Amino acid sequence: MVTDEAIQRTSRISGFHKLAVEERIERIARFANLADEHRRQLAVPSNIDTHLADHMIENLVTTIAIPVGIATNMRVDGRDVLVPMATEESSVVAAVGNAARQCYDAGGFTTSMSGTEMIAQIQLLDVPDPERARLLILERRDEIERICNACDPMLVGLGGGFRALEVRLVDTPGGRMVITHIIVDTRDAMGANAVNSMAERLAPDIAAWTGGRTLLRILSNLADRRVVRARATWTAEAIGGESVRDAMIAAYQFADNDPYRAATHNKGIMNGISAVVLATGNDTRAVESGAHAFAARTGRYRSLTSWEVTSEGNLSGAIELPLAVGLVGGAVKIHPTARALLAILQVETAGELARIIAAVGLAQNFGAMKALATEGIQRGHMSLHAQNLAFAAGAAGPEVAEVARRIVELRTINEGAARAALAELRERA
Ligand code: MEV
Repeated sequence: MVTDEAIQRTSRISGFHKLAVEERIERIARFANLADEHRRQLAVPSNIDTHLADHMIENLVTTIAIPVGIATNMRVDGRDVLVPMATEESSVVAAVGNAARQCYDAGGFTTSMSGTEMIAQIQLLDVPDPERARLLILERRDEIERICNACDPMLVGLGGGFRALEVRLVDTPGGRMVITHIIVDTRDAMGANAVNSMAERLAPDIAAWTGGRTLLRILSNLADRRVVRARATWTAEAIGGESVRDAMIAAYQFADNDPYRAATHNKGIMNGISAVVLATGNDTRAVESGAHAFAARTGRYRSLTSWEVTSEGNLSGAIELPLAVGLVGGAVKIHPTARALLAILQVETAGELARIIAAVGLAQNFGAMKALATEGIQRGHMSLHAQNLAFAAGAAGPEVAEVARRIVELRTINEGAARAALAELRERA
């Protein structure tokens, strides 16, 4: 016999997607035996219309709001910008503003980029003569260009479209594969849809020309034709002297030579980069995978930034990474908050957005390295973290700052201490 409970506990819910959002909440509340407070919380509307959110993904039940802060003091290519950052982590926004303040007078950040080209890959298997197949494909460059451009006349109208062709032979345990890269300028779009459509359209022709069998047809997130660079100089004076500068150089050298440290160093960089990518409705995972793959391009996982002492004795930092972000298409275009946040940035092209994001990554890295190489990360981090703990302990209004101050003063920054401090505060009141 199928009991009510058995029905509630199964994850096999047919037609879940056809239910209204409120009904979905009801179903999962029954499944997980949600407390009323959790059920009510799921129904709280966010600054995105539920109807719109329901069209963005499948099986929507709610939305989750992430705090958005503004990084101040940023000057990128001679223009002052205020940068929205969406992050759940304390200290991230403040660190960028502080780093940017310390290089503002020296001119801020200078950027450049390689272009806005994306790569799509077409995998070809079971090719009898791979070397010949490679040339057969390369010989058809003009035809391939025509096929690709015919897929997206609008992109071509905007000055984008097919740019180049590469064919690589990749040896695998399953045999030699012929991998075709089509390189497409996607202009102000991130471009995943554009290049994926072209790859799918082109694949049957490639199979017919070579006698092989095509399998995967998808973009590469190692967008190394969309590489963005930013650099800045911090005077030794502005950062607290030569000893701080030299300690930061040692911190960088550690990261660049040890993958265990590089992973954390680059995570800090991505704290800034992903926060702007998310705030502007772009694809954080695409950017992250591209960044980490790029960091390992020499065969060893290394720092995404490089740091050196200038001939004047100042600290010069640079960052270089692929940044596939867009201003059109996907969530960027339809998420009203992303649009509002983009409006703050006042950028007209995806390239301008990418350059600001790279500058934020560099600033974030400066902030983390400086803190780590001097007083350590915990002091600055913990005062904000203490406020989170105060919230978690149940503090409200002015109690939050008071409880946070108390646990920082006691140097016992944990939730138990926050609860005790709150109790004490309420007793005194
Ligand atoms: C924490 O989110 C980021 C850092 O660990 C970065 C770093 O170690 O460079 C502080």
